[in-house]
Amino acid sequence: MRVGVLASGTGTNLQTLLDAGDVDVAAVASDVPDAPALARAGRAGVVTAAFPLTGADRSGRDARMAAWLRDQGAELAVLAGYMKLLSPGFLTAFPAGVINVHPALLPAFPGLRAVEQALAHGVKVFGVTVHYVDEGVDSGPIILQRAVELPGAREPEDVMAALRPLEHALLGEAVRLIGRGAIRRDPAHPRRVLVSH
Ligand code: GRF
Repeated sequence: MRVGVLASGTGTNLQTLLDAGDVDVAAVASDVPDAPALARAGRAGVVTAAFPLTGADRSGRDARMAAWLRDQGAELAVLAGYMKLLSPGFLTAFPAGVINVHPALLPAFPGLRAVEQALAHGVKVFGVTVHYVDEGVDSGPIILQRAVELPGAREPEDVMAALRPLEHALLGEAVRLIGRGAIRRDPAHPRRVLVSH
């Protein structure tokens, strides 16, 4: 299974995929030309490209980005800190689908600043979700989730420090499971994702 990664920022999730050894990262694209994630990919010898949105044609840009990733051989697209919505044309371009990692237990706290949202709500259990991407904001079917109890948490940085290792583990696990055909959609329930470990 060849993987195309989209990343807008630091790229620590991308780095764990690059370091995994058993994950075949075919290419990395970004909407941010100077994203540190692109430099990480370059250092690992993976081809990169930037697709900044210059005009209003987001669906055209997304189609070019999907076509480029497919040209590099990507069958699965992984959003590793890609912070924008994607057009339908991007989402249907990948035979193995498009997945995302989110630092909250969805459907709680979708969108930006999820950890800040959770802290503001006063939750005591935080967590991470890997899910299929649809046209909504973090609204696609859930593949894997993991929770961590942090009843005394006050600072977003402390929560993120606890969540980051979970994100890295869960994203790699999801990519591996998809790669070996262990993930399928339940024909009886459109939102349920069946995982055979
Ligand atoms: C992660 O918290 C991820 O859950 C969210 O964006 C962040 C990306 O971090 N979608 P990094 O760039 O992989 O370090």
